[in-house]
Amino acid sequence: MVHPMYGPNRFKLGIFSANADGGLTLTRVPERWPAHWNEVVEVAQMADRAGIEFFLPIARWKGFGGEVNSREWSFETLTYAAALAGFTQRIALFSTVHVPMVHPVFAAKALATVDHASGGRAGLNIVCGWSPQEFTLFGLTMIEDRYAQGVEWAEIMERIFAGGPPFDYEGRFYRLGQVSGQPVPLQRPRPVTLSAAFSPVGRDFAAKCADFLFTTFVDIEGGRPHITDMTARARAADREVGVFTTCHVVCRPTQAEAEDYYEHYAVRMEDTASVDYYMGAKEKFSSSHDPEAYRLHRKRFVGGAGTYPLIGTPRRIAEEMLLMSEAGFAGTTVSFVNFRDELPYFIATVLPLLREAGLREA
Ligand SMILES: Cc1cc2nc3c(=O)[nH]c(=O)nc-3n(C[C@H](O)[C@H](O)[C@H](O)COP(=O)(O)O)c2cc1C
Repeated sequence: MVHPMYGPNRFKLGIFSANADGGLTLTRVPERWPAHWNEVVEVAQMADRAGIEFFLPIARWKGFGGEVNSREWSFETLTYAAALAGFTQRIALFSTVHVPMVHPVFAAKALATVDHASGGRAGLNIVCGWSPQEFTLFGLTMIEDRYAQGVEWAEIMERIFAGGPPFDYEGRFYRLGQVSGQPVPLQRPRPVTLSAAFSPVGRDFAAKCADFLFTTFVDIEGGRPHITDMTARARAADREVGVFTTCHVVCRPTQAEAEDYYEHYAVRMEDTASVDYYMGAKEKFSSSHDPEAYRLHRKRFVGGAGTYPLIGTPRRIAEEMLLMSEAGFAGTTVSFVNFRDELPYFIATVLPLLREAGLREA
């Protein structure tokens, strides 16, 4: 089976953060995504039937406070992917795994389990962590060179997946004896791997250890240099690394309806204290976004954690996706205020336009 991330569509689509309450939003509207298990399954099945390529969870251990404490409720992503394998048939099931919190020997076994359970549809999204309260939760200190640990982590996993004789590992972060693990994944040499990052050091990590960078941009044209930069870093490492991005979506029959709803949930109904906390902590402890995003785009942080807004009619959204594809993005994830209520309209109206535009096959 061809893994969906290498399927025929020129512009690939994923669903991001359906495993966590609020999805990507920091809003108080009552219809915000509750991430109840049965509804998550419904959304995964909907996406699977529509030929959407991947289902990507967020890795979160703590909520962001404020009135509704968004993301406090989130399903753990390896067990989540294994469970969804039984409910879906074609869609890739990613797990987003925190290097500092999850031991690579455990992660390798869990990921191999997902790959077998799903018939080779597993995916790994490596994150090195940025939220101080999550490090505290695990009794860990957030170190500067988290990506150096990430390189060792990924190397240990790859060596386990090679399936050779037990090996000893002597690194800066891991000293392990007689490491082995069976079964190895069905995907060879390892499941498709994303790395979610923005900074130069994050891109260098992706160049060494991932198949795709998962990253943000402020405006579509401004995405081009990020892709050129990533491609150059990958070439320097003698590899090829594609770039996926991430958007939040309000798709409605008219532009005015979409923009009114965006204003309602992402401005009037923002969960103010959580937005202040989130933007402050992200800017201080990560470089997930262009610095200008924090100054200019509070609404985007409420609307979708600082991702790019696709707000409007199906045609407008399809046109913006065409521009993203032309800029060089391999695809994007989409997130909604309420995935179950809003995904059907997106599937029914935007996907046919993407087919017309030659971005996706029938
Ligand atoms: C698109 C995107 C998605 C991310 N998803 C997660 C996530 O699910 N969990 C998490 O802890 N960090 C997530 N991050 C944060 C990164 O993994 C990283 O810790 C942060 O961006 C800081 O690293 P950087 O300076 O290299 O970007 C995400 C970042 C980006 C750009």
